[in-house]
Amino acid sequence: MSVERTLSIIKPDAVAKNLIGKIYDRLETAGLQIVASRMMRLTRQQAQEFYVVHKERPFYSDLVEYMISGPVVVQVLEGDNAIARNREVMGATNPADAAPGTIRADFAESVESNAVHGSDAPETAYTEISFFFDVGEILSRDS
Ligand code: CMP
Repeated sequence: MSVERTLSIIKPDAVAKNLIGKIYDRLETAGLQIVASRMMRLTRQQAQEFYVVHKERPFYSDLVEYMISGPVVVQVLEGDNAIARNREVMGATNPADAAPGTIRADFAESVESNAVHGSDAPETAYTEISFFFDVGEILSRDS
C-alpha cells in the first residue's frame, strides 16, 4: 500500500446541515488523516475553474451556482491508498446508488447536492490539492 494525499470538499449542503464533524469522523475512522483544512466561500471564478472538466456538461452552470451558494470546507486527506479509500467512504456520486453506510448514502440530498467531493486519481489529486493549498499549509503528522 502506498501513502497518498487526496483533496476532499465538504459541500454547501452538508455544511448547511451542520455535518462537518460527522463527516470528519467518518474520514478519520476510515484511517484518513486531515493534514490541511480550511472553511471558505468559493468565488464564481474558483468554482468554474475547479470544475472546468465538466464545462460542456448540462449540469455545469447549476453545479457552479450550488458550489458558491454557501461555505465549503476543503481538506487534504493523507493515508494508505487515500484516493480510493476516500471514494469508498464517500460512496457513489448519486446518493441513490451509494452503498449503505457511505457518506453520500447517509447525508447527500441529490446527485448535485451530494455532500462531498473527492479527487478521482493521482493526477487530479495533485492538481486539486495545489488549487487550494500551498505545500507549507499541509502538515503531515511527521512534519
Ligand atoms: P463531484 O464528485 O464533486 O464531481 C462533479 C460534480 O458534479 C458531482 O460531484 C456532482 O455534484 C455533480 N454532478 C455529477 N453528475 C451530475 C448530474 N447528472 N446532475 C447534476 N450534477 C451532477
